[in-house]
Amino acid sequence: MAQTTQDDQKRHAPLLEALGIDPDSTVAGTSDGRAWSADGPERTVATPIDGSVMARIADTDAAGVERVVAGLAEAFLSWRLVPAPQRGELVRRWGERLREQKDSLGRLVSLETGKSLQEGLGEVQEMIDICDFAVGLSRQLYGRTMPSERPEHRLMEQWHPLGPVAVVTAFNFPVAVYAWNAAIALVCGDTVLWKPSEKTPLTAVAVQRGLEEVARGLGHEGVTGLVVGAADPVGRAVVDDRRIALVSATGSVRMGYQVGEAVARRMGRSLLELGGNNGIIVAPGADLDLAVRAVLFAAVGTAGQRCTSVRRLILHEDVKDGFVRSLLKAYAHVRVGDPLDPENHMGPLIDEDAVASFERAVAAAKEQGGKVLFGGRTLPGLGSCYVEPTLVEAPSADFPLAQEETFAPILYVFTYRDLDEAIGLHNGVRQGLSSAIFTSDVREMETFLSARGSDCGIANVNLGTSGAEIGGAFGGEKETGGGRESGSDAWKQYMRRQTVTVNHGTGLPLAQGIRFDV
Ligand code: UN1
Repeated sequence: MAQTTQDDQKRHAPLLEALGIDPDSTVAGTSDGRAWSADGPERTVATPIDGSVMARIADTDAAGVERVVAGLAEAFLSWRLVPAPQRGELVRRWGERLREQKDSLGRLVSLETGKSLQEGLGEVQEMIDICDFAVGLSRQLYGRTMPSERPEHRLMEQWHPLGPVAVVTAFNFPVAVYAWNAAIALVCGDTVLWKPSEKTPLTAVAVQRGLEEVARGLGHEGVTGLVVGAADPVGRAVVDDRRIALVSATGSVRMGYQVGEAVARRMGRSLLELGGNNGIIVAPGADLDLAVRAVLFAAVGTAGQRCTSVRRLILHEDVKDGFVRSLLKAYAHVRVGDPLDPENHMGPLIDEDAVASFERAVAAAKEQGGKVLFGGRTLPGLGSCYVEPTLVEAPSADFPLAQEETFAPILYVFTYRDLDEAIGLHNGVRQGLSSAIFTSDVREMETFLSARGSDCGIANVNLGTSGAEIGGAFGGEKETGGGRESGSDAWKQYMRRQTVTVNHGTGLPLAQGIRFDV
């Protein structure tokens, strides 16, 4: 191993050790054969902040995936029988563990993804919040009763645990999205398999270590498991496995088509949270100051690498010039650099591939007649993954590039005359995750929220497209995949519904009044 790599690993060692990871040896799986087996090829994990190597990690090989899935299928048989409030106790303690680890885990999230420390900590807070939600939920997995049409009959529904659930997560929210799924699935009585992005395995190992320890302490060892590796072969093996009852996957639309089709082919369930291509409409009479601040965070926060990041800004012609001027001023104040320095607003993209797709998008924007109003360049002086926040004026409503989600801080600006035109523009993409309007006009607001308004899973008024709370159901329509995660009644996807009819009389009346007298 090169000396610099060794020095880098030494520098990152204390943080990893604080989270239970031994960085001296290749990070290896736990030994019980359930949680994680690591006999596959090794990969190096480097931070996009300065390219320094944090650890080496071994992938799970095919035999390892088999062991982990078989372990979770077996553990499900007893976990489903544990009373739900006791399952909630496991999640309550997990939440406590996360509170203790918030600083170190938040820091590791920032190092591994390149997001700001504030956002790294925010991600851990999002995990804590969903744990709290799930603990309460563990006593509220309600079924309904309905009046039966037959005399002396009871009609009701109840919810049972579903089976092992696989959670496939993306690099950009490496731990929060896992917790949205895992906390809920665990109280629902499912065992949980995690396949994190191969770009962010260390945060997954750290979280898994903590959760396993908590489960072991309560005598529920083996209810969660981890497999590490690429979409093919590791992800594919998980998705194709009939023992996995639900695959909850976050990532690109392309990945979603593959996962959705593969899971459907075996009649499994999938919950897909795929790409967004989110728009913000700024109407005349909006609080423009508020709108500028909101647009800025939604476009530049997490370096534009949220599925909820705003990609399309739809400005009323009366406010356009002034708004763009204010936005340019705000963009000029965005400090790009080491995201662990609290003075900086925007860190690097996740890797050099992401920088290449940023460059491709900027080149395509120019080719298609787009005008770069701000940024557009890479920032090699800061490191190999840094780019400028970028603002591009679209030449017309049908700007082909704006149909695509580029996971980078590029925002396209459009102009509109009336609200119907704005909504048409807004809804005229294949994705449908998040949306927002800035207005002080109640009619405009209600139109945007009505059935002929935003066609997205999330619709906001006077706030940006990103930064949703866990209490609502999170997800989107169209090519975003239709899944809903985290709050509200998203838990129902992690359970199976059973409709129960009980006859407590002595006759056998048939539904629909059918007579069958022999
Ligand atoms: C994602 O980018 O996949 O609403 C999730 C938000 C965050 C979650 C984003 N709470 O921006």
